Amino acid sequence: MKPEELLKAAQQARTKSYAPYSNFRVGAALLTCDGRVFLGGNIESASYGATICAERAAIASAVSSGARSFCAIAIVGGPAEKELSAPCPPCGICLQVLSEFCGPDFPIYLQGEKGEVKTYLLKELLPVAFRESSLGGKKE
Ligand code: THU
Repeated sequence: MKPEELLKAAQQARTKSYAPYSNFRVGAALLTCDGRVFLGGNIESASYGATICAERAAIASAVSSGARSFCAIAIVGGPAEKELSAPCPPCGICLQVLSEFCGPDFPIYLQGEKGEVKTYLLKELLPVAFRESSLGGKKE
């Protein structure tokens, strides 16, 4: 699947976002290596810290369906009433959760200022990930 198509799916996911407090709506589309796409939108809470980001909503949906092997993720986000105008990078918590299931070369597609695709690798956004091996157990 092309990055542009996955970003379209992320825009679709964004329509289901629940963001009454920040009014910042995010959508994520997670592509499995067998070609399935799982969607997630951010889900806010009156207890702000209980908010679930779009990326983690998509990961939870995928893992709950038995998928654990992922090929790419696309993310879009911005204020509800405005057109998307800036890339929406994943937050640190989402990068950490992505690193649980995805390797350093996992691609993250964002939508640029002019609608173009901006591609980052997980290792660029989280260069020194805390992994299972960091716990001192199994080697990577
Ligand atoms: N948000 C996401 O959904 N993903 C991110 O990686 C960054 C932030 C959401 C959380 C909150 O609902 C809103 O964007 C503003 O922070």
